[in-house]
Amino acid sequence: MEQKDRFVQIKERQKRIEENLSKIDHKIAVLSGKGGVGKTTVAVNLAVALAEEGFEVGLADLDIHGPNVARMLGLMDEPMMQNGFIVPMKYLTNLKVLSMAMLLEDGQPIVWRGPLKHTVIQQFLGDTDWGKLDFLIFDLPPGTGDEALSLFQMVKLDGTLIVTTPQRVAVDDVQRAINFVNEMGQTVLGFVTNMSYLICPNCGTKIKPFGEGVVNELSEVTGVKCLGEIPMDPVVAQYSDAGKPVVSFLRGSEAEKSFRSLVANVLSSIGG
Ligand SMILES: Nc1ncnc2c1ncn2[C@@H]1O[C@H](COP(=O)(O)OP(=O)(O)OP(=O)(O)O)[C@@H](O)[C@H]1O
Ligand SMILES: [Mg+2]
Repeated sequence: MEQKDRFVQIKERQKRIEENLSKIDHKIAVLSGKGGVGKTTVAVNLAVALAEEGFEVGLADLDIHGPNVARMLGLMDEPMMQNGFIVPMKYLTNLKVLSMAMLLEDGQPIVWRGPLKHTVIQQFLGDTDWGKLDFLIFDLPPGTGDEALSLFQMVKLDGTLIVTTPQRVAVDDVQRAINFVNEMGQTVLGFVTNMSYLICPNCGTKIKPFGEGVVNELSEVTGVKCLGEIPMDPVVAQYSDAGKPVVSFLRGSEAEKSFRSLVANVLSSIGG
């Protein structure tokens, strides 16, 4: 293909993405400096809690190599194509979900480099029938790699939520993620400290395994607000593995309350 044709094709793809996403009021990405800190858990519970508030919500799992959103919601059916668009699966009538895991055989690995991943992300954005939404949440793989780069290049987001665990050694990772978001011309909404504390099952005391004051220190060093602290609780992992998001399956728990409070802070930080 000639360079001129390729340029026209890129412009057309971008136009299609902009048109498709123009019916979505708020777009929020969930990112972290490193892996396993709870991004997907946060993204899933944020999406479910927003849907339970009555908003129209979409959840796009952009973790191409390690897609976990579908499992955490117990959704594994294959999405259909309609009029040239992928129809996302419905977890609730007002919560649409699309994950690479739905498009793969169980356990099938993906061995793609950047350009192929970019094409798939274009499809998630431009060729998926998200319809009219109040919120589209993007779950990203760990770190500042191809997937985040593609998303940040193609979509102007309302903001990015950075998930971290509250150890002092995490400061550098959070700072790196914040710098990346800013360098991409996007904004950081705030950070979430996951596995922030434990509730003693015997006496109900809050235990801070990584010490006191880490959240304030993170906020001071990075200049970014903490929008939520989620407790470490083995049932969060058990329920997530079983496809049951804790916000709706563990009502009244400390974990549920912490996610609801995070949602309230996210809504106020975007002026909702
Ligand atoms: N607050 C919590 N309490 C207990 N377990 C948790 C909590 N948050 C997450 N987990 C568990 O920790 C593991 C990692 O969480 P999750 O998959 O959400 O992290 P991630 O940042 O998305 O990981 P990755 O970088 O691989 O995408 C999962 O087994 C999850 O169930
Ligand atoms: Mg994840």
